[in-house]
Amino acid sequence: MKTHGYAFFALCTPVLVLMAIAGCSAGSSDTPYAPTGSQYQFMTDYLEPASDVIWDSAGAIITAEGEVDLQPTTEEGWLKVVHAATVVAEGGNLLMMPGLAMGEADWNEYAQGLTRAALQAKRAAQAQDADALFDAGGAIYNVCRACHNQYMAQDEFE
Ligand code: HEC
Repeated sequence: MKTHGYAFFALCTPVLVLMAIAGCSAGSSDTPYAPTGSQYQFMTDYLEPASDVIWDSAGAIITAEGEVDLQPTTEEGWLKVVHAATVVAEGGNLLMMPGLAMGEADWNEYAQGLTRAALQAKRAAQAQDADALFDAGGAIYNVCRACHNQYMAQDEFE
């Protein structure tokens, strides 16, 4: 009877150790995936650079030489925007990952809004439609701002 009990314990211990290791590497969540950096790093290293590719490809800027249209002029240039929009669209999903998410309904709304706006940009770039891309760029910007208004302000006032 006693031996049986010990045998069970011997079997169980390595399993517990494994679970502890898995728990450590995956953070506090039960999921097999985990953020690769902080929320801040996600913003500055992932989301911002990809969004910049979209914003830098829509509308026009005024330079010393006059107005310069930013829309891509080559197939490759439009493809770059398609790729960046895909990154931003997937970013909305990542924002709902444990470790990046705030676990609130509003947060998830913004995250999903980001994905929708980025998919709009992706379709515009695929259609090489400069006006639609400009509108989608504005929609993306509005989502960034709305979430920051709610969640960055809270950070600052705490
Ligand atoms: C779901 C909410 C949410 C969305 C959507 C969002 N952000 Fe953020 N962002 C945050 C939070 C929260 C912080 C503060 C993170 C911190 O300081 O740890 C932040 C911080 C940042 C920062 C650092 C700002 C600074 O001044 O220190 C940048 C840059 C940024 N976001 C860019 C973007 C861009 C670009 C988009 C849209 C394409 C975007 N974010 C969309 C929540 C969001």
